[in-house]
Amino acid sequence: MLLDGHDPLAIAVAADALAAGELVAFPTETVYGLGARADDDAAVARIFAAKGRPTNHPLIVHVTDASAARLFCAAWPDLAQRLVAAFWPGPMTVIVPRAHGFATASAGGQATIGLRSPSHPVALALLRAAAARGVPGVAAPSANRFGRLSPTRAAHVVAELGTDLRVLDGGDCDVGIESTIVDCSRGRPVLLRPGSLTRGAIEAVLGQPLADRDADAPRASGTLVSHYAPRGTVRLMASGMLQSALQLLAAPTDAAAPKAVVPLAVYSRLPVPSGFAGVHQVMPSRADLAAHELFNVLRRFDDLGVQLIWVEEPPTGPEWDGVRDRLRRACAN
Ligand code: TXA
Ligand code: MG
Repeated sequence: MLLDGHDPLAIAVAADALAAGELVAFPTETVYGLGARADDDAAVARIFAAKGRPTNHPLIVHVTDASAARLFCAAWPDLAQRLVAAFWPGPMTVIVPRAHGFATASAGGQATIGLRSPSHPVALALLRAAAARGVPGVAAPSANRFGRLSPTRAAHVVAELGTDLRVLDGGDCDVGIESTIVDCSRGRPVLLRPGSLTRGAIEAVLGQPLADRDADAPRASGTLVSHYAPRGTVRLMASGMLQSALQLLAAPTDAAAPKAVVPLAVYSRLPVPSGFAGVHQVMPSRADLAAHELFNVLRRFDDLGVQLIWVEEPPTGPEWDGVRDRLRRACAN
């Protein structure tokens, strides 16, 4: 059922539900999360069941602030402290050593734990109300079925997980792609998932370069090759190749020959030829605007029954890393 996230009574109802070990979906500035109290393994098991997610894939624990985060950690590396001081509340998740015997299910059994303090006012109000009821943190993956597109609107959550679930509606998510994840547990900082914060901004705060994830990096479902995928097949194409393909489609054919009807969608900065029979969505030329609408656009293509999605490669700048990462994973199936 949908609850108004700006209604204090709804926040109280949702916080009561969390305290009782039930699930609540809530907005964050990145995407909507499916939450359960992080210190209760049975409650967290409900998240894995609802999503159809393997139970050894760790979740991010959402906390009110850095002091709440410390409860979950065995150590608080200086790397994490720097990132948290600069980017919390906000779209930054730090991976740190986990407090022994605590939040085991949330961590998917890993010896580390992912922590984030979101900046969305509804998320913070919920976390604070839950904390007042003895909930130290809320484990929450994106509120979608495993492998699917992350939801950026309350209606997307209902479409993914059904009408029985309590969903706090906080409107359209601002950022639109999931948080940046930096592993701070291994001495040197490792970028596990790019988000809206640029590599340069993160490295400036850390005072050292970020390493890229390697084969022995901890398991992260958002880093599986095929993830964030719509139902239609996505092809990422260089601008020149997309232009040629579109010209080919637009070329006049023998009037007698039947024209192939392809349920095709194009997401590009390039215009499509006039008379193009598919769906066209213009990709914004700013990375933050493209991130904001990315999952929403792909979900709309799904709703239209599109089977093939041609996406123009985004520009090469570092501010596009998060969008590029999600698009590559969306086409890997
Ligand atoms: O923006 C976000 O991060 C959203 C909102 C709801 O906060 N959450 C989100 O959660 O994207 P999820 O579960 O869809 O992605 C969490 C990612 C996964 O790739 C997971 O494997 C990784 O974080 N992760 C969590 N804990 C980890 C750990 N201890 N070690 C390595 N990766 C971890
Ligand atoms: Mg996810």
